[in-house]
Amino acid sequence: MTGILRLFAVVIFAAGLAACGSDSDTASESAAGPEYTLTLSMAELMAHVLEPVADSLWRSAGWIDDEIEGYYELYPTTDEGWHQAEERAALIVEIGNTLMLPGRAVDNDSWATYSKAMSTVGLNMMQAAEQQNEEEFFQTGAQLYSVCTACHQSYSPDIAGRFAPSSLSQ
Ligand code: HEC
Repeated sequence: MTGILRLFAVVIFAAGLAACGSDSDTASESAAGPEYTLTLSMAELMAHVLEPVADSLWRSAGWIDDEIEGYYELYPTTDEGWHQAEERAALIVEIGNTLMLPGRAVDNDSWATYSKAMSTVGLNMMQAAEQQNEEEFFQTGAQLYSVCTACHQSYSPDIAGRFAPSSLSQ
């Protein structure tokens, strides 16, 4: 709901600018470099973009020993399944970059280190998925979780620990 309202506000704002015909504003913006769409807040980017991708990767790694359903593995069992895992790991690589967009990056210090680490872990996950290497895939999933947690501890301590992937928390 807030997302929709914010989007409207941006559209109205943009329409206002166009109506004013303020060429100087537009020129100075483009001189400053490319424009990015930063409509999603950091919380929205986390909850709507990063978390669903990370969750789907964690749901494909490890095993469950359930009282009712017994023991079963979560790893993909088909080429197609591994291919999907590789695609999601590629999204992790690029979301690491997204966190570093001007206007999003909080600093060029630890924030940059964690964002870059996420992309690197994503690349390793892609490789593990491509090779259908279950152990590597699990390990890189655990590394991904560490990166999330480390950044949250530094930049949003109150939300650290609010989420835990089922396949890693046993
Ligand atoms: C570079 C730093 C950084 C990394 C890496 C990071 N986060 Fe976040 N995350 C944040 C910050 C900052 C917030 C708080 C945003 C706010 O509330 O304004 C946040 C908030 C969240 C939230 C709460 C969103 C809400 O609805 O309030 C979730 C869920 C989340 N992150 C998931 C993840 C997951 C999953 C990962 C790893 C796959 C991850 N984050 C990696 C910085 C990061």
